[in-house]
Amino acid sequence: MSNETTREKPWTGRFTEPTDAFVEAFTASVQFDQRMYRQDIAGSIAHARMLAHVGVLTEQERDAIIGGLEEIRTEIERGEFPWSIALEDLHMNIEARLTERIGVTGKKLHTGRSRNDQVATDIRLYLRDEVDAICTELRRLQQGLLEVAEREAETIMPGFTHLQTAQPVTFGHHMMAWFEMLQRDDQRLRDCRKRVNIMPLGAAALAGTSYPIDREFTARELGFDGIAENSLDAVSDRDFAIEFSAAAALLMTHLSRWSEELVLWSSSQFDFIDLGDSFCTGSSIMPQKKNPDVPELVRGKTGRVNGHLIALLTLMKAQPLAYNKDNQEDKEPLFDTIDTLKGCLKVYADMIPNMRVNRDAMYEAARRGFSTATDLADYLVCKGLPFRDAHEVVGKAVRAGVESSRDLSEMGLDELQQFSNVITEDVFDVLTLEGSVSARNHTGGTAPEQVRAAVARARERLI
Ligand code: ARG
Repeated sequence: MSNETTREKPWTGRFTEPTDAFVEAFTASVQFDQRMYRQDIAGSIAHARMLAHVGVLTEQERDAIIGGLEEIRTEIERGEFPWSIALEDLHMNIEARLTERIGVTGKKLHTGRSRNDQVATDIRLYLRDEVDAICTELRRLQQGLLEVAEREAETIMPGFTHLQTAQPVTFGHHMMAWFEMLQRDDQRLRDCRKRVNIMPLGAAALAGTSYPIDREFTARELGFDGIAENSLDAVSDRDFAIEFSAAAALLMTHLSRWSEELVLWSSSQFDFIDLGDSFCTGSSIMPQKKNPDVPELVRGKTGRVNGHLIALLTLMKAQPLAYNKDNQEDKEPLFDTIDTLKGCLKVYADMIPNMRVNRDAMYEAARRGFSTATDLADYLVCKGLPFRDAHEVVGKAVRAGVESSRDLSEMGLDELQQFSNVITEDVFDVLTLEGSVSARNHTGGTAPEQVRAAVARARERLI
């Protein structure tokens, strides 16, 4: 990137001294806002079309501007564009280049517009495209989850509360819990997109413009759902970016919780899953290690996304109306949030369907932790005991099991009958893990039949 000042800044008219070299770099944003070049050019083309439509530009002027902008886009894509720090930002770089290429007509593009409404429009267009890309990747991950859930509909694992074995659940059911979280994340993003896709253009610097502009025309050209109602608000608020960051932080929080489980489950202490060699890394000193770096990094990256949300909220909190240069600071947190989220979703969407599930280890863990104790209590209630008494009876049976290192299902009928004489042979139907999960056979329950039904419904919801 060059610092040459031969290419004039468009605002030097009222200045008598050149900008301090450090200040020039300090106030510039072109280093990071150039990634919005496609949106900036699309916005300028739509603006030029609108200006010609209302008679502010001639058709020849419009066509010269559009042709020039399209050439500039190609130039940028080829990596041949002469980006200049002296020209401060993406917008002034492109405008200066347009004039270099097509002459004085280039100087007419900015009629009835300001960088204030231009940048707000660019960010919204950029974010709209990225929300769509994120939702696509999210959907791919959800589809992978459904595959795993269906395949593992009958796989039994311990369900936890307080990370202590609680009741048996099916692994498919556990995966569907993750699906539901992601489904809400998807809805949040789609809802946020409605407020992102509103056009600020026409607000100009802050007060609107005296040219006879047709904002509806420009909005249609750019695929906006509507136009911002108030010019002061249009150029100044970044609540749509904050809202997106909040949705992103929640999504990352979900991925982080999931990561925590994957890290635990892939340890040799749990041994529930194997993430596959291509998603793990080794240790440079301990030859036996296969580390779950991917979920660990996703868990770690949640911190920076949460941080960006706070950065944007803080950026906004003390700004008077309307535009302030503070808002230039919205881009790096927003862009990093987008990049981080997309990367995390991609790696998860690739990794999850490849994960190997150790069904035996899960089953064994569920068998060990007295996970059917509640089923025994429910059984006693069915036989007429009040629930509190049943709870007490089972507590005693569990204590006996702990003392003799046996699960309830490993005790004989005689032994169980010592705790309550209502117990008969059919108790073993509920003490098995299969009996326990199959009994929870209602919408939202863990029974294999319900998992399959939930997967089928989920597929419908994804369409
Ligand atoms: N680079 C600026 C930004 O990102 C563009 C708008 C600048 N407007 C101004 N009046 N200085 O916000």
